[in-house]
Amino acid sequence: MSIRLGDTAPDFTANTTMGEINFHEWLGDSWGILFSHPADFTPVCTTELGSVASLKGEFDKRNVKPIAVSVDGLESHNKWIPDINEVNNVTMNYPIIADEDKLVATLYDMIHPNASEKATVRSVFIIGPDKKVKLTITYPASTGRNFAEILRVIDSLQLTAVHSVATPANWNDGEDCIIVPAVKDEDIPSKFPKGHKVVKPYLRTTPQPNK
Ligand code: BEZ
Repeated sequence: MSIRLGDTAPDFTANTTMGEINFHEWLGDSWGILFSHPADFTPVCTTELGSVASLKGEFDKRNVKPIAVSVDGLESHNKWIPDINEVNNVTMNYPIIADEDKLVATLYDMIHPNASEKATVRSVFIIGPDKKVKLTITYPASTGRNFAEILRVIDSLQLTAVHSVATPANWNDGEDCIIVPAVKDEDIPSKFPKGHKVVKPYLRTTPQPNK
């Protein structure tokens, strides 16, 4: 069964390049991004894992722990890491799960047989500190992910978790937000003291509340 937004992220224990982990324990109070790649020693994956390593500081700032997974073994991952480091001028700084028995791939429905019988597709799961799934995206093997977009979504998720706002198309951190329809017009001035605009009765915007 596929995983839907709001579901509890399945827990598991797995070997990784940074030792054995229990996923929920490892997440602790952090947000998490669990992302699968088709295989080690492949070109797109090499750029992707390096890209996440180079953005680790941005994930840390947001209290997000990244973790990668493929169905390759630990020995393969460990042999591949020097290539990731060299190609991307990084030092790998987050774990890669060795999912040879496909436990994680199965729990998270990361193998799409009509795309590939054996390899995981490029799945992304963002998980909140409550262990609930906040976002899922699936990319094909031939398309490398845009991790700046993943950070942008995390900014939106973290903002909308604590303020009664939503974020418009192509929003970036620091830009105006949409006041959610549940907020009554008369409550806007007290809830959003920075001001607001009424574009349409159902589309009311306000400066980003936490900036
Ligand atoms: C890659 O990472 O380059 C890749 C992996 C599987 C299929 C196609 C590309």
